[in-house]
Amino acid sequence: MIGVHLYGQPFDINAVQEICKKNNLFLIEDAAQAQGARYNGKTVGTFGEMACYSFYPGKI
Ligand SMILES: Cc1ncc(COP(=O)(O)O)c(C=O)c1O
Repeated sequence: MIGVHLYGQPFDINAVQEICKKNNLFLIEDAAQAQGARYNGKTVGTFGEMACYSFYPGKI
């Protein structure tokens, strides 16, 4: 499952992790729009199996 953090706001990671656990899915985070954002004190992009970012100049 791919979760997308948008506009600097983390998605509900706990809820999505729960869905992944119940359905035996890997979590991939798209953190292109939320570099440096934190969820429960931890930087987004560090919760899933992998994460992707963007270095496009218009990104946060
Ligand atoms: C949430 C999100 N993920 C991925 C991308 C893709 O980033 P890039 O254009 O650097 O490949 C974008 C770009 O708009 C984005 O907003």
